[in-house]
Amino acid sequence: MNTRIYEIKDKNNKKDIDEVAELLRDGKLAAIPTETVYGLAANALNPEAVANIFKAKGRPQDNPLIVHISEFDEIYPLVKEVPENAKALAEKYWPGPLTMILPKSDIIPNEVSGGLSTVAIRMPSHPVANAIIKSAGVPLAAPSANSSGLPSPTKAQHVIDDMMGKIEAIVDGGECDVGVESTVVTLATNPPRLLRPGGITPKQLESVLGKIEIDPAVTDKLKDGAVAASPGMKYKHYSPKAEVYIVKSCFASFRCFIDEIGEDGDYAVCFDGEEDFIKIPTISYGKESSPEEQAQKLFSILRDADKLGASRVFVRCPSTEGVGLAVYNRLIRAAAFRVINVPEIFGLTGQTGAGKTTVALELSKKGIYVIDCDITAREIVKKGSPVIDKLKKAFGEDIVFTDGELNRKALAQKAFSTKENEKILNKITHPAITKLVRKQIIDNKDKYPAFAVDAALLFESELYDYCNKTIVVTADKDIRLKRIIQRDSITEEEALLRINSQPDEQYYISKGDIVIENNGGEINLADLF
Ligand code: TXA
Ligand code: MG
Repeated sequence: MNTRIYEIKDKNNKKDIDEVAELLRDGKLAAIPTETVYGLAANALNPEAVANIFKAKGRPQDNPLIVHISEFDEIYPLVKEVPENAKALAEKYWPGPLTMILPKSDIIPNEVSGGLSTVAIRMPSHPVANAIIKSAGVPLAAPSANSSGLPSPTKAQHVIDDMMGKIEAIVDGGECDVGVESTVVTLATNPPRLLRPGGITPKQLESVLGKIEIDPAVTDKLKDGAVAASPGMKYKHYSPKAEVYIVKSCFASFRCFIDEIGEDGDYAVCFDGEEDFIKIPTISYGKESSPEEQAQKLFSILRDADKLGASRVFVRCPSTEGVGLAVYNRLIRAAAFRVINVPEIFGLTGQTGAGKTTVALELSKKGIYVIDCDITAREIVKKGSPVIDKLKKAFGEDIVFTDGELNRKALAQKAFSTKENEKILNKITHPAITKLVRKQIIDNKDKYPAFAVDAALLFESELYDYCNKTIVVTADKDIRLKRIIQRDSITEEEALLRINSQPDEQYYISKGDIVIENNGGEINLADLF
């Protein structure tokens, strides 16, 4: 079939609008822009035309379609009756991204309702959609104009990619504003029930309807054998070819996860401003604070990921507030319900003698997995490790004993002899420590509610980037002095030397998020939780 493309940017292009409307009236298929996504329209009262929609999309027959109207009064012939709450909803949110389900009248063919006794109706606000429906003079059945299973189309190009040669016409009306399909609410139940979240939020519905129910399938996978209130919810949906994963975490933990598992072919879908901090290629889907923007971009970036040849896509989990619920609902289906949780990572640091270890113990008691970087630092210089080879190259063969074990004293003498040497040491050891810490976190992410990375040089190392919040432990100088002398059996002079070689307390406090004073009294972790 030769698919004709019309560019209709506004409702004044009467000639083209009438031409497309006539095709539709005649039982042909045309993709049209709406404010949500592009729809694949046919005359809703013509069963054969409707049947062709299912063929073009490869859509399961039992998945009913939404009937689109251009004026409120057009609803009357389509339903058994129009209840007051439907009128009130329409008054407030039509035309717009809202679909209502009501008991159907006899003129609705079974092809449209998928054999159900109800029908879904919506009045789009897109001026071109509205003009085409009006000119056609018949209600239009229109599912999203994608091949079944793929992300819904939000640009004419997406429709061209999926439908070229399969339908009579594609109307290019620019990019869709909302970006996800309409909110679907059934008024055929009491209380009304949200079946699919969209541009109209649950709160907005409740402002008119009072308390509504939210179908469990909105956020969770249907149990095997369960009957879907909305048949569309049982199918795999919106999936690009790439494997999609939702990563539920703060940004710092997301980074840790991606840096640990990222491979060639992987993409990270993040929020604006995060791109430069992620090592694998990224695609942003808008500001973290704007679910509207995320909704608008979501399907498009999923298609982009395929164009880029992504094999896996890791998506920063959106908030489920407001329109965010719709974003999450589409994403979780695109991800086939694969959700990866990465708990929060805290940093733990402070000057020598401040008593980090005591705080670490308190954190462990709360179930937090504490990673002591001193121990990690010893792990990475075990006999035969690549770090030993690098250290030998930098500081000479005699930093190891003849049996290959590290000679700590010899290394310390060389590495701490000048600031320059210390830098060289850190450049060799820090990345190895970071890698091992990261691995421990990601290996244990399903077992602990949070992690704490205990590191004296936290602020100087890359580990800092993986910490969502840092805890700085402080203590009075004379107390620290006493502790060091006792702990390491050294003289006061040596202890002072150590204290003075570190940055002052203010440095730590200015960089930390939570300051915990540890002069020997009770440790207060309240700020952390
Ligand atoms: O924004 C939209 O609603 C777009 C544009 C084109 O208007 N259309 C759209 O249609 O998303 P579609 O077919 O992709 O999704 C319709 C959804 C499906 O999940 C379907 O199962 C549900 O609405 N639905 C339709 N009629 C229903 C009914 N009588 N009872 C329960 N669910 C119904
Ligand atoms: Mg669809």
